[in-house]
Amino acid sequence: MLDFFRNISGPITMHLELTEACPERCRHCYNFVREPNYSFKNITKEDIDLFLDDFKSNGGFHVILTGGEPLLAFDKLLYAVEGVKRRGMSLSVNSSLMLATAEKMKTLKEAGVDHILSTLFSHDPHTHDFIASRTGSFNEIIKGINITRGAGIRVSINMIVTTVNETHVYETGKLLHSIGLNKFIANRMIPSTLNSNSLKNEFLITEEPARRMLDDLLRLNKEFGMTISSCRALPHCFLGDLDEHFAFTARGCNAGKRHLLVNCDGTARACVHEAETYGNVHEIGIKGVWENMGKWRRKDLLPKGCQECALMEICEGACRQIAEVVSSDWSGVDNLDKGPDGLRKYHRGVTNELVNFIKKEKFFVNPEIEFRKEDGCYLIRILGAKCVLIENHFADFLIKNQETQQTFALDDFPERNAEELGLYLVYDMVHSEQHTNIANSLIEQYRR
Ligand SMILES: C[S@@+](CC[C@H](N)C(=O)[O-])C[C@H]1O[C@@H](n2cnc3c(N)ncnc32)[C@H](O)[C@@H]1O
Repeated sequence: MLDFFRNISGPITMHLELTEACPERCRHCYNFVREPNYSFKNITKEDIDLFLDDFKSNGGFHVILTGGEPLLAFDKLLYAVEGVKRRGMSLSVNSSLMLATAEKMKTLKEAGVDHILSTLFSHDPHTHDFIASRTGSFNEIIKGINITRGAGIRVSINMIVTTVNETHVYETGKLLHSIGLNKFIANRMIPSTLNSNSLKNEFLITEEPARRMLDDLLRLNKEFGMTISSCRALPHCFLGDLDEHFAFTARGCNAGKRHLLVNCDGTARACVHEAETYGNVHEIGIKGVWENMGKWRRKDLLPKGCQECALMEICEGACRQIAEVVSSDWSGVDNLDKGPDGLRKYHRGVTNELVNFIKKEKFFVNPEIEFRKEDGCYLIRILGAKCVLIENHFADFLIKNQETQQTFALDDFPERNAEELGLYLVYDMVHSEQHTNIANSLIEQYRR
């Protein structure tokens, strides 16, 4: 597996901003700077069609419908959901859910929304309301979560961890588990260069709270079986034992490599937290803005130590935005960076037990995976935004076996490479023929 997304021909995921308006005003949010009399922009239906067509024709797979608060622009949200589905792409929605009603959620479910990522900052209503700058928002969100789940839509929570709520991760997860949620994501706050100097650094957590955040997540997984992760990049050298911290690995920086953001007016950014824009999709299309953000794909954007690190391809120097804010240098180090010395061997879920199992078992290729030809390799889309890169000869083998649905053994697999085949099992690209339960139990904690 290559995991090296620097040369791919176009984005995998597009964040599409439907409205800038939001009933909350989260203190750390990249939209916080807007003045009270700011006139919020909304997307038009014509532009939704235009951006979706352009993204699709450039090989895009997954659209994240976001804001501001998308439920404030419900007609656009519904139009966008239908548009994404009609074009054969997958989607997810970012919404606080505080404006959810049973009728709206039923309509969204029928249109094809299966999952919504919401944001909650604490189990303590006062802390949430303080961070969101809105009294009562905690209660409105809990109510919205229940309504949404009642309509049959899965809800996961993204907790943004700042200096204000850094000790609240465990209790927040516990509360969410008690109301029936099973997936909990906690991310350290990414400061935005869009915010003023005084705000930029104010809420960024340091090493000790970041370790506590990960420990609390692992504890929630252990005690309640919750699915946990972080979806913003963390330095792999900070994680220590990578097998133990598997849930937080291989989530390198997406900016301009897998993702781009298209704002309501068509201006594009590589990262939602970034101030710089790379042109307007109206003028130069998705292809043009993707080319303009090429600096994000260059290795020299990373600090020297990261460029030489064995895990560079999966860690990608963690967060460049944080590096810029703490060192005024895009090629500086992330504030949690520990350097490559002392990195331990990383098995990525391919344990000896799994390798032994692979030697005895037969497999078939997941019929759902899709292939996108890239320069010198293939991009495999597994589900939603989940993609990997693999070398041509492995991809040729998978394509052929997917077509015939033939089962195969390790002896038939290119190079008889059990580690590579093990990764395909972990990433759900191949399935085992007979002993699915054994395979599942071996990879359960590592599954991607
Ligand atoms: C701008 S919000 C819009 C969606 C929606 N209003 C919500 O509350 O989730 C999009 C996503 O960005 C996350 N986010 C906002 N500011 C962030 C920051 N400074 N660092 C990390 N994530 C952030 C939010 O938690 C949310 O998951």
